[in-house]
Amino acid sequence: MSEFIEKLPKVELHMHIEGAMMPDLMLQLAEKNHIKLPYQTLEEVEAAYQFKDLTAFINLYLQGTEVIQSAEDFYVLTQSYLDRCAAQNIRHAEVFCDIRTYVERGLPPEMVLDGIEAGFAEARDRHGISGGMLGTFIRHLGVDKAAEDWHFYQQHAERLLGIGLAAIEVGYPASQFKAIFDQVHAAGLPVVAHAGEEGPATYIWSAIHDAGVSRIDHGIRALDDPKLVQFLQQTQIPLTVCPCSNVSLHVFEHMNQHVIKQMLDLGLNVTINSDDPAHFGAFLQENMVAVQRHCGITDDDLIRMTYNAIDASFADQPRKTELSDELDQYLEQVLAPVG
Ligand code: ADE
Ligand code: ZN
Repeated sequence: MSEFIEKLPKVELHMHIEGAMMPDLMLQLAEKNHIKLPYQTLEEVEAAYQFKDLTAFINLYLQGTEVIQSAEDFYVLTQSYLDRCAAQNIRHAEVFCDIRTYVERGLPPEMVLDGIEAGFAEARDRHGISGGMLGTFIRHLGVDKAAEDWHFYQQHAERLLGIGLAAIEVGYPASQFKAIFDQVHAAGLPVVAHAGEEGPATYIWSAIHDAGVSRIDHGIRALDDPKLVQFLQQTQIPLTVCPCSNVSLHVFEHMNQHVIKQMLDLGLNVTINSDDPAHFGAFLQENMVAVQRHCGITDDDLIRMTYNAIDASFADQPRKTELSDELDQYLEQVLAPVG
């Protein structure tokens, strides 16, 4: 592991909180809540984490969420992710969670916000980590459920950093949710959307034009459309790229085929993220190591992606200044001549 990466102050903008549930925590929660999972041992969980594609992954991911039953469970999960952030020097983290998964099981949606907030409050006190939650819509469950979810999110708008669109992409472009996203904008919350992960470049255009996104989650298929590349160069809309996720879900068969270096060299506003670190076996730091090893990403590229992430975050301006000052100081120290 490079010492430069280990000590680099980092920012993560694309991470689904249930995707940070390590197999040992999943089994612990299953036992505590008397949930029967199709696997009983760490080895069996790990063996199940082989995904054919995004749909197969989402189905398994949603099954794993059944072990979460209370605000306390969300607190423990958030705390475990943020402890990992502290260990990897991640200084600001924005996490996705959808309430729909729990509402469908008859659980109160407040438990999601209460638990995640409690985890962040503790991490702020213990480690000085900032961040919070983005509420998402599960796009493959359709517009009516998303409208119900928005009704809840709207009532808790001040507790959210923004609203996102996630889950099975193909067949569910952002255009289907335009009327809801208009309301999100009217309420003053920023919008992000998964687009161009498995879906084509037209889905990225739809996220831009129909959802009015502040950031695009993934966006790797943008390279298929030269006009879109030009648009993203001009507008500098940030892209939250997740390299290990893309390889695990067979968007690329091997990391050396990933396009993150081309995206950076084209001048796109790229950030690097983990997506679902427990499922894909890689937190942010391991993603950085993988792209250095296999994609020709340099330390300078990692620095650039970190400044991009600070800028693209939904932290307030004073916190953004603190984060970039911290990064400036780290770089001064690393680049200072020895002796
Ligand atoms: N939810 C959790 N992980 C996801 C991913 N990689 N794409 C879409 N939705 C998700
Ligand atoms: Zn994602």
